[in-house]
Amino acid sequence: MNEYRHAKSSPAGGISRRTFLASASAVAVGSVAAPYLSRAGSTDKGINVGLIGVGTRGMMHLKPLLTLSDIRVTAICDLKQDRIEAAQKLVTDVGQPKPLGTTEWKKLLDLKEVDAVISCLPVDEHFRNYMDVLAAGKDLYAEKPMCITLAQCDKLIAAHKKSDRMVHLGFQRRTDPRFADSVKLVHAGEIGELVEGRINWSISWGPLYDWFGKRERSGDWMVEQAVHNWDLLNWATQSRPKCAMGMGMDKFFRDKQTDRNVHDYYAGVLEYENGVVVNIIHSWLAPGRFNKEFTWLIGTKGGVDFNSGLFSYRPEIKKDEHFVFDEQKSDVDSTKLAQEAFFNSVRTRKPSLAGPEVGRQALAACLLMREAVYRRQPVTMKDIS
Ligand SMILES: NC(=O)c1ccc[n+]([C@@H]2O[C@H](COP(=O)([O-])OP(=O)(O)OC[C@H]3O[C@@H](n4cnc5c(N)ncnc54)[C@H](O)[C@@H]3O)[C@@H](O)[C@H]2O)c1
Repeated sequence: MNEYRHAKSSPAGGISRRTFLASASAVAVGSVAAPYLSRAGSTDKGINVGLIGVGTRGMMHLKPLLTLSDIRVTAICDLKQDRIEAAQKLVTDVGQPKPLGTTEWKKLLDLKEVDAVISCLPVDEHFRNYMDVLAAGKDLYAEKPMCITLAQCDKLIAAHKKSDRMVHLGFQRRTDPRFADSVKLVHAGEIGELVEGRINWSISWGPLYDWFGKRERSGDWMVEQAVHNWDLLNWATQSRPKCAMGMGMDKFFRDKQTDRNVHDYYAGVLEYENGVVVNIIHSWLAPGRFNKEFTWLIGTKGGVDFNSGLFSYRPEIKKDEHFVFDEQKSDVDSTKLAQEAFFNSVRTRKPSLAGPEVGRQALAACLLMREAVYRRQPVTMKDIS
């Protein structure tokens, strides 16, 4: 699914294609770093990656990984043997050696030659797995959400601080110039003083079942999915969530998954410490034509639709609307960009843009909204701490 809707740039008043390309190439240049010093001290080894969890997201990672020249996928772990074999085949099909396959992540982590791990497990496995990865001395690309509770986040942050490992959270918008350029403009005051945000995630391609349908395993949709939107707004507003209200329904699709207990529809309002108020509508009930995801931020002068890169202004500002990225850039592989940012951090030993503190803040916003929806009454941060 391509979540980025593109529309043509306005010729006047917009950011030029050149400006966009300059910022895109800055990202690319940053990722071509000095030769990687392996544990053995050689400079030509590249980075050996262990991939844990090769379901939907793991396979989405594997494909771009195989296009990165100094990266080798040396081990694959999944509980399901057929998934391991399908992933191994993808690797051998591009002429690379067959990676070791295992159903136990500890066996993968015991391999000395594995430098870094990309982990794509169900959310309730994140904490245990991420702690094991750090304890084994590997760098970690950790799929979102970081953990399922704030207490787990705090333990993981403490373990990370004690280690010398690089940890990068799977918030690919943070390393995608299409989003980064918009956020930069917001921070520079382009839309004035920030007033309100709007999140809409209306889905008609689901729902998803299995662990996704169980709140104790996924954290519910306010956590598993909306974490992308909250991370974006945390970043753009440079503020922290303060309080929330909400309500929802969890009775849908139970005929297809009898123990399903996630909210397949909810709506809520969240206020940030700096006064920005955000409305969210999140639904798996959308009719086909209403299948849409967007995150807007609106200020006293104008607003931005982050997904399309559109900036639009209030009439008295007398400025043409414009897009921060053009047509050619609407289909970039944001997963590959995120991987490059992670490997750049692994090579240079410089902390990632999407480290564990970012992961904790994003989860805090999710849990605040979830608590409001569950209680059907206003909540503040002290209700989730
Ligand atoms: N960043 C993104 O845009 C994005 C998109 C989709 C999913 N995700 C995240 O990726 C993670 C995985 O989601 P998914 O859609 O791939 O789920 P999935 O169910 O398709 O895949 C999970 C895989 O993990 C395996 N697994 C489960 N427990 C295991 C264990 N103990 N040891 C080894 N393997 C185990 C399963 O067999 C399965 O193949 C989730 O955290 C999800 O939120 C992120």
